Amino acid sequence: MTLGRPRVHLRETTSTNERARELAAAGAPHGTLVTTGLQTAGRGRQGRTWTAPAGRALLMSLVLRAFDGLTPLRAGLAVADLAGPDARVKWPNDVLVGGRKVAGILVEARPQEGWAVLGIGVNVALSAAELPVETAGTLGRAPRELEATLAELLAGLEERLTQPADDVFAALRERDALLDRPVAWAGGEGVAAGIDDAGALLVRRAGGDVIALDAGEVHLR
Ligand code: BTN
Repeated sequence: MTLGRPRVHLRETTSTNERARELAAAGAPHGTLVTTGLQTAGRGRQGRTWTAPAGRALLMSLVLRAFDGLTPLRAGLAVADLAGPDARVKWPNDVLVGGRKVAGILVEARPQEGWAVLGIGVNVALSAAELPVETAGTLGRAPRELEATLAELLAGLEERLTQPADDVFAALRERDALLDRPVAWAGGEGVAAGIDDAGALLVRRAGGDVIALDAGEVHLR
């Protein structure tokens, strides 16, 4: 297993992605892991913040030296595997259980410098009262299970990050939270029509034409 070594664990930090980016820029090897019990400035996608109470969530970032454009999708699948058979992936990589988001993934890549940081936050053991927003969910595990959950996720990532692209797309299609549902994005709206062979989200618009979204975020209407 190459993911998770070396590991830096911080009792508290601003953002594990920040720490991992510094380590990557300083030459840290593939698989270097940063974890923390509490983030004071956790970062989400699209400039949002990510919050979780101390000691209840998996807050981790990996330095990757081998990665591709599918890394965010691969990571979403690994987290969905962790979350169980009922977990769904809302393209590109929000993991939902019972329609509630239990994990967020933020990949920050510097291909020209040869690294990417894969940041993952999983609500492992939050109580209902601790959920940061109404749409958030939790795996419902105990706080003492955090380390075992980390080990399980690293093993899953080990597999998903190196899997042939076709297998990734097949697994994503089985877990597609958006299929046949009305969606909207910054540039328009339509009905989600699956995942194509490049990992893009297909959307059928009102006139019947199907377009492929290869980046960004969509919302359920
Ligand atoms: C999202 O907006 O859904 C992505 C959230 C990513 C949060 C994780 S928590 C660990 C890592 N460190 C960060 O600052 N962000 C990611």
